[in-house]
Amino acid sequence: MPDDILKDIESEIIDSKEAAESFRVKYLGRKSGKITGMLKRIPEAPPQERKELGRRINEVKKQAEERLAAFQANLGKPDASGPQTSIDLTLPGRFPAPPGSIHPLTHTLNEISRVFEGFGFSIATGPEIETEWHNFTALNFPSDHPARDMQDTFFLEPDRVLLRTHTSPVQIRTLLTEPPPVRVIVPGRVYRNEAVSYKSYCLFHQVEGLYVDEGVTFADLKQVLRLFVQALFGADARMRFRPSFFPFTEPSAEVDIWWADEALPGNGRWLEILGCGMVDPNVFDAVDLDSERWTGYAFGMGIERIAMLRYGIRDIRTFYENDIRFLEQF
Ligand code: PHE
Repeated sequence: MPDDILKDIESEIIDSKEAAESFRVKYLGRKSGKITGMLKRIPEAPPQERKELGRRINEVKKQAEERLAAFQANLGKPDASGPQTSIDLTLPGRFPAPPGSIHPLTHTLNEISRVFEGFGFSIATGPEIETEWHNFTALNFPSDHPARDMQDTFFLEPDRVLLRTHTSPVQIRTLLTEPPPVRVIVPGRVYRNEAVSYKSYCLFHQVEGLYVDEGVTFADLKQVLRLFVQALFGADARMRFRPSFFPFTEPSAEVDIWWADEALPGNGRWLEILGCGMVDPNVFDAVDLDSERWTGYAFGMGIERIAMLRYGIRDIRTFYENDIRFLEQF
């Protein structure tokens, strides 16, 4: 077909006299040239199509002749035997390519990971699409717990699979596959069906921590979190543990850090950065570990919240807008 031949012609490289000659023979040769052959077969086409076919073949022929002529016109010029291209590879680039930068969330996550790796934690991951069992049931959420509600959770019908609402299901996955003692952190993306505003978004990131061994105490948890806060926010960062509740830890606490700000009454305020507690015996039961023998602590923190504190970012949505003016500041 003429169109196929046209494509072939365009892809040919004519960079020498020999190439020009074989191009001529291949397409325009009187005996076996492709275009010549097609012209000869016009009488075989149905009468009403002959005129149009002839016109198209002649166009292709003209293209082929023009390519040859263009090469010949350049013969004798200094670069006539070089490749026929309009790109001058020796020219400098048009503009310096703007260097990329590391996303503030990645930055914060890397920093958090580095601190916990220093404490001997390794990194575990899990799927963002979870079963209701891993996300809720095995974590001791009662079946009527409000967090299971459609209001908070994106369910993916029909199998009651869902977008994980926290990284805690990876506690379950880790305990099912790795016999204790375990010491892992789990960075990852989580989803909640919340009204989008400056402080909440339908997705965000968490880092989960899990330490399970014999004889782990709340004092171990406090110590590791204190060292973490000091590493991230400085040696004189003020922090406090506040009693709280999570179905999968008992006792549970939340950690606040003091955010000094001259503009605030009292010159600062407490900001919550993470939830934590001792692994609830029901969680060990769910994964068939002896809850008389094993003890552990878990914690979970929101990376956006910490990044907002560190960089003074006021609106969580800016993390996801990919506005270059925002990103290039990091
Ligand atoms: N998963 C909890 C949340 O998303 C945080 C948490 C993790 C609390 C581990 C205690 C222990 O709010």
